[in-house]
Amino acid sequence: MKTVGRYGALAALVLATPLAAAEIQAPVVTGAAGAAGMATPRKPEIYKDGWIDLDKNGVKDIYEDSTQSVEKRVEDLLGRMNRAERIGQLWQLLIPGDPAKDNGLPGQGAIGSYLGYTSKLEVRNALQRAAVEDSRLGVPLIFGFDVIHGMATVCPIPVAQSCSWDPELVARTSAMAAAEASGMGIDWTFAPMVDIARDPRWGRIAEGFGEDPWLDGQFAAAAVRGFQGADPRAPEHMAACLKHYVGYGAAEGGRDYNTTEISPFTLRNIYLPPFHAGVDAGALTLMSAFNCLNGIPASGNHFICTQVLRDEWKFSGFIVSDWNAVAELIRHGYAADDADAAAKALTAGVDMEMVSGTYHDHLAALLDSGRVKPEVLDEAVRRVLRVKFERGLFDRPYTVAPAADPAAQAVRTALAREAAAHSCVLLKNEHGILPLRTDGGRIALLGPLAANGDEMLGSWSAIGRAADVVPLNDGLAAALHGANLVVAEGCKLTGQDTGGFAAALAAARQADVVIMALGEPRGWSGENSSRSELGLTGVQQQLFDQVAALGKPVIVVLFAGRPLAIPALQEKAAAIVMAWQPGVQAGPGLADVLTGATEPTGRLTTSFPHSVGAVPAYYNYLPTGRPRDQYKDGTRAPLYPFGYGLTYTQFAYSAAPVATADVAPTGTLHATATITNTGPRRGSTVAQFYIHALASTAGCRPVRELKGFQRVTLDPGQSKEVTFTLPAKDLGCFTSEGQWVVEPGRYEVFIAADSASGSPSALRLTEK
Ligand code: NOJ
Repeated sequence: MKTVGRYGALAALVLATPLAAAEIQAPVVTGAAGAAGMATPRKPEIYKDGWIDLDKNGVKDIYEDSTQSVEKRVEDLLGRMNRAERIGQLWQLLIPGDPAKDNGLPGQGAIGSYLGYTSKLEVRNALQRAAVEDSRLGVPLIFGFDVIHGMATVCPIPVAQSCSWDPELVARTSAMAAAEASGMGIDWTFAPMVDIARDPRWGRIAEGFGEDPWLDGQFAAAAVRGFQGADPRAPEHMAACLKHYVGYGAAEGGRDYNTTEISPFTLRNIYLPPFHAGVDAGALTLMSAFNCLNGIPASGNHFICTQVLRDEWKFSGFIVSDWNAVAELIRHGYAADDADAAAKALTAGVDMEMVSGTYHDHLAALLDSGRVKPEVLDEAVRRVLRVKFERGLFDRPYTVAPAADPAAQAVRTALAREAAAHSCVLLKNEHGILPLRTDGGRIALLGPLAANGDEMLGSWSAIGRAADVVPLNDGLAAALHGANLVVAEGCKLTGQDTGGFAAALAAARQADVVIMALGEPRGWSGENSSRSELGLTGVQQQLFDQVAALGKPVIVVLFAGRPLAIPALQEKAAAIVMAWQPGVQAGPGLADVLTGATEPTGRLTTSFPHSVGAVPAYYNYLPTGRPRDQYKDGTRAPLYPFGYGLTYTQFAYSAAPVATADVAPTGTLHATATITNTGPRRGSTVAQFYIHALASTAGCRPVRELKGFQRVTLDPGQSKEVTFTLPAKDLGCFTSEGQWVVEPGRYEVFIAADSASGSPSALRLTEK
């Protein structure tokens, strides 16, 4: 079967590569194009939509034949590659802006991948042409880029999207990002980031899906589904990359790149499960992390990269190191020099080296000396080739830009708006101040984020443009036709200038209600952007305090890439909406929620501490022998716990679930609670199902562990029973050695609106 035209649904593609017209053939060639006996070498034929009929030597070799299985193609190709070509596959460099500056690497088959983005698709395709047409075997390059929460249509940052508690939403935004980016020449995204983060000082908490391993795993799988689709070969999909493997989020002090010490029990039960879920969902690649994990840097760590990932989980794709992380093994004090770093990383299981060139420079000598075994090299090459075949690059190496499609863009914009609305979390709403009245009234919209597009884009904004963002003021103005909306910046996000306070206070005095758009700069979260304080930046707190002192109801819309410690806002504001960094549709999405056109549906996936000194405040902590965990001057309890979020109505949960009393190891437990909408409006609650194991010899278990959730939408006065079922085997945990054990004994189950409320019911897991 010929692969050309397999994705015929992509009807309106325009060839954007600078190919001579004569090279463009109609997509109707049969599999006999390179039949045996035709011995004249020829250039591959290139078809519309970037497909080619690869044939380097006039004979259709197995690896060139798209009707053969991936494994056959990989082995056939590997067998033809010389050592330099094999080593070349393991190197990734930053994409040159000019193909003339490629140092001849693609044409020699001496490089496997480029990372980065070029707005000139012809540059990407020219580099690819050198690899495919000039190199001896025509192995295509794979082009990777950080497409994290959108390419052009930037959506909310990942931690925000996780607050939707809607994995399908993440699958849809990931699919949208893949469709946009793949049309721009990106074959592979360095996403999703599935690092568990428990410390909001760490700026990269913005990029993940929160603090719970099970929920993170649901989002990891959803993102992989979205990016890769059912068939990663399709032009509109991309290979995914689970990162940063592993433990990166446990950086000491929240300081980025820092050392991590994670007990084997916690590693197995908290940090590894989201990666395992992503691998099970079919992620084609992983990225090894920067951090040192329990004394061995992750990018040279055989235990995690080979023993766990390959031997236990049977992962067959490849690992790319993080940027320069192989060379950094030297700075960690783990490798003596570049050659030592190359040997240690490759032997550990890091297949492709990002940016640093230790494999390129030293693997040949390391093979000669016997320090690195040829089988180790071959296995790494095999993995890289496998992904390239699975991504369809041998059959469709070139990218053609889809024609501009206003209708498709309207759909994307609508999804970005939906995502912005469903990612925000209502943290406080006194006297039902929200939703806003839409029929008039004077509103003062104050603060440095009131009319700011750029700050909405978050830390990985790809090619998103501030000009495409609809900021809060514009979103509100469009939604509140009748209102008298006065906007005043008041102050900047940083610095000590209070010169704008007077105008802001004057506007507030004239208003019936004040909305304050406050937070932190987007550059203060993300990579290398940790904080030692978790308050509002600059003089925003002063501005808030002075506005609040006027006695007007103040609604705070908070923009940040991390949980902030905001007890003073909680005390004085009438309402608080955590908006994170909501993307290009920030204004319309937030206006939808503020006006009640969309109910607030978000729930926190990361706990908000009272103060920076009360970090960490994650919900699934281990019990202690003396649970007097108060500080003399504060509390360890979070200001807003994991799972928390208000709606415009209220819900009552029955006190404790009715649960199966005795469950056999092969049985299934059931727990049921009744939920009633006791408030005035239709709304939805996220019923959360937690367990607690009371006597675990494998290792002490957290006070609560999330095992499921259901969104329940009810009219005023309506009640509903929700039932959770859990196979008894899912009550278990991993031992430190990685065995799943299910221990008989006492457990508790909770059905609650968040991780801090609800009462338990007891159940017993019987011996037989
Ligand atoms: C370093 C970051 O840690 C990683 O997340 C990213 O994918 C790479 N740089 C490539 O940009």
